[in-house]
Amino acid sequence: MTLLAVLKPGGEAATALYIVAFSLFIIGLKRGTHPTTAKQGNMVAAVGMAVAVATTLLLDGMGNWGLIIIGLGVGSAIGFVASVRVQMTEMPQMVALYNGVGGGAVALIAWSELRHGISSGVDIPLQELIPTLLAAVVGSVSFWGSNIAFAKLQDLIPTKPLAVPGQQVINVVLLVGIFAACVDLTINNGDPSQALFIGILIAAALLGNLVVLPIGGADMPVVISLLNAFTGLSAAAAGFALDNVALIVAGTIVGSSGTILTMEMATAMNRSVGNVLFAGFGGAPAATAGSTEQRPYVSITAQDAAIKLAYADTVVIVPGYGLAVAQAQHAIKEVANELEKRGITVSYAIHPVAGRMPGHMNVLLAEADVPYEQLREMEEINPEMPRTDVAVVVGANDVTNPAAKNDPDSPIAGMPIIEVDQAQQVIVIKRSMSPGFAGIDNDLFYEPNTSMLFGDAKKAAADIAAEIQNL
Ligand code: TAP
Repeated sequence: MTLLAVLKPGGEAATALYIVAFSLFIIGLKRGTHPTTAKQGNMVAAVGMAVAVATTLLLDGMGNWGLIIIGLGVGSAIGFVASVRVQMTEMPQMVALYNGVGGGAVALIAWSELRHGISSGVDIPLQELIPTLLAAVVGSVSFWGSNIAFAKLQDLIPTKPLAVPGQQVINVVLLVGIFAACVDLTINNGDPSQALFIGILIAAALLGNLVVLPIGGADMPVVISLLNAFTGLSAAAAGFALDNVALIVAGTIVGSSGTILTMEMATAMNRSVGNVLFAGFGGAPAATAGSTEQRPYVSITAQDAAIKLAYADTVVIVPGYGLAVAQAQHAIKEVANELEKRGITVSYAIHPVAGRMPGHMNVLLAEADVPYEQLREMEEINPEMPRTDVAVVVGANDVTNPAAKNDPDSPIAGMPIIEVDQAQQVIVIKRSMSPGFAGIDNDLFYEPNTSMLFGDAKKAAADIAAEIQNL
């Protein structure tokens, strides 16, 4: 049944509409690079997606409207409810889930294309069969890998690295098997075996599981970004198989942006992508690691912190993962409000990998209505640190550790940091002397100009704000 067959597949009108769609994707991405235009960018890209979907539905040969309408209805309902309910801190697992669904859809499309080819009784052209196989393998790896990433971040399975004995050998055997089966299907193009194709999907599923299981929960954002790039690649391959230009372009954009984001995250952590994937790093740090340190440190109260802050001229707030855990963004904004009432200049120093996902701190601070102009990037704020009266580190740890600069043997050596150790005074708000994600002690805590304020970040910030009001 071709209800609305008004566009010819591959025709000029359809191609023109697809060009409109991916131009909107690119404009959306560009606008997404700045917090003030990001929301608008999202809307522009969503309109682009609507144009791409509508164009595809208007193509001649489109059928099965009942199924399409059910699919659109169910997908929209789940997407709407999930987007309303999801907490900011749950965003990485939501992205993992959506990304996985994309990869799974591509693998299923590849399977349906193969069945279509078989039932037509003629050879599937190689330029269609090869991308179909690529889409099936990469889409299946991405779907299953993303599911493991989701389960780890949602605490459904242990977040620590789970190594399977003989893991690397099994992975190589699976890869070689998948490659051999793909070659077999390509050679026997006239009568490809569907059972062998299903075997490929299962082997790729196992590979997706086995590659992600040994990676620690905290490294998941990097892995999700990489799997996102894989999904894009598989969608582009499906675009070649279906001869759909919009899918090729959209898949390539996702593939390349996912790759760039993965590389940037790895660089900001001073690690290679290979190290993230194969080093079994990134598990929850041992609870006692670092607490064996016997060096002296200074512990202060919220009242002491309020006095230090109230008599400063410039204050820089450095948020980290603990701020996200404590949901302390509103309380910290309260502290900033109190300081600003006293004429004190307040800014926020944002490290590119503070927290556990790209833009984590920007999102949280935006939620608390912190003005964008007060957010300062690391390179911009570091030269101002020596002129800063008080730096307040809120639930951040690794991103402030001077060992990254001073100790070439440190696991984080070479990682760029927010140089709070250069400030006149430092107040660190955290619950204990426990290490952060990297599992190492932080030299900053023992510096003579550092004071530790122990407690939950939200409560500590609320106490400081109240104490400043009482001064
Ligand atoms: P971390 O080094 O992980 O330190 C966070 C600190 O927050 C902990 O030391 C913890 O100390 C404290 N904390 C936890 N809950 C708290 C609460 N309720 N109240 C107050 N403090 C609390 O964080 P960071 O400095 O933001 O660094 C991020 C790390 O994650 C880096 O090593 C980075 O490489 C890694 N990473 C980041 C990303 C992205 S994309 N952002 C991706 C993967 C990995 P206590 O337990 O003593 O409170």
